[in-house]
Amino acid sequence: MTTNHITAGTAGTWQLGDKRVNRVGFGAMRLIGNLSTPIAPDRENAIAVLRRAVELGVNHIDTAAIYFTATRSANELIATALQPYADDLVIATKVGPTPRSRDGAWESDSRPEQLRHQVEENIRQLGLDHLDVVNLRWGVGIERGTGSIADHFGALLDLREAGLIEHVGLSNIGPEQLTEALAIGPVVCVQNQYGLTTRREDDALLRLCGEHGVAFVPFNSIGAAIAGAVPWATPDETGRDVVEAIAEAHSATPSQVRLAWTLHQGPHVLAIPGTANPAHLEENVAAGALRLTDEEVIRLNGVAAPVAR
Ligand SMILES: NC(=O)c1ccc[n+]([C@@H]2O[C@H](COP(=O)([O-])OP(=O)(O)OC[C@H]3O[C@@H](n4cnc5c(N)ncnc54)[C@H](OP(=O)(O)O)[C@@H]3O)[C@@H](O)[C@H]2O)c1
Repeated sequence: MTTNHITAGTAGTWQLGDKRVNRVGFGAMRLIGNLSTPIAPDRENAIAVLRRAVELGVNHIDTAAIYFTATRSANELIATALQPYADDLVIATKVGPTPRSRDGAWESDSRPEQLRHQVEENIRQLGLDHLDVVNLRWGVGIERGTGSIADHFGALLDLREAGLIEHVGLSNIGPEQLTEALAIGPVVCVQNQYGLTTRREDDALLRLCGEHGVAFVPFNSIGAAIAGAVPWATPDETGRDVVEAIAEAHSATPSQVRLAWTLHQGPHVLAIPGTANPAHLEENVAAGALRLTDEEVIRLNGVAAPVAR
């Protein structure tokens, strides 16, 4: 498909609290290489990708202080590439009970009061005086966490009260945690692993978010089907033939079809595809213009039936 004149707002916008963002955003994690087998990617390329993303209208960037290797930090790359920040740019970060230590190992059991340090670290690295959106990253790795988030969520609300955070989101959670949080305070987004053939048990959570005006921000929506993108997992082949046939009909790529499908799940669904490849960035932004027909959506929905939770 042609990518001329398509911007990150072509798929529409969504209100994250008081911030209006284009529905196609950008995930910064891939700019640092791979967390588990770090190979230093080209720094100038990463900076150019970030600047091009903003040029293409991306005004919602996902990052975190935990996105670092021995040689790269996503937050530092963002600060270098994009300061002074555009007024409409929303940088979403994440903190939680499993931060990474300085040598890169995952720690666990952070107490709620330790979240302040993580928030301050993100503020410092990004060169900001407060954070636009902070997701409470629950659970270990990308596994969905269980149990009560009340204490940690409450700690973030306190930091919001103190002016360090503007809006709070949740990540790697289930419907129970969203319901619990909404009874305590405002939630602007939920960020979970999700895609056409990934974690479809979250169909219900996606709908619950929509009912409450909470953005659903899936990650790994395309990477789960790409060899090597998730080093510890084999690529998901489910529905590959259907996705490829629909891609061909639109002169698009399978990744664009997967992104378009997620955006099709509701106006509150935002995309944060991650890439260090400039051509992929252009493709991902252009996916916001891909309009699937009703018949194509039915065919796509058929490749991975929702899983009962
Ligand atoms: N909350 C959490 O726990 C959590 C966990 C993981 C990620 N995230 C966030 O979500 C963002 C997205 O997640 P993700 O990076 O795991 O998944 P993703 O965006 O679905 O997939 C990224 C992978 O797909 C490749 N790719 C991207 N665009 C492509 C295209 N158009 N064609 C072919 N390949 C393409 C990338 O490689 P190339 O560089 O070669 O394009 C990379 O290997 C991350 O950047 C991060 O900000 C959050």
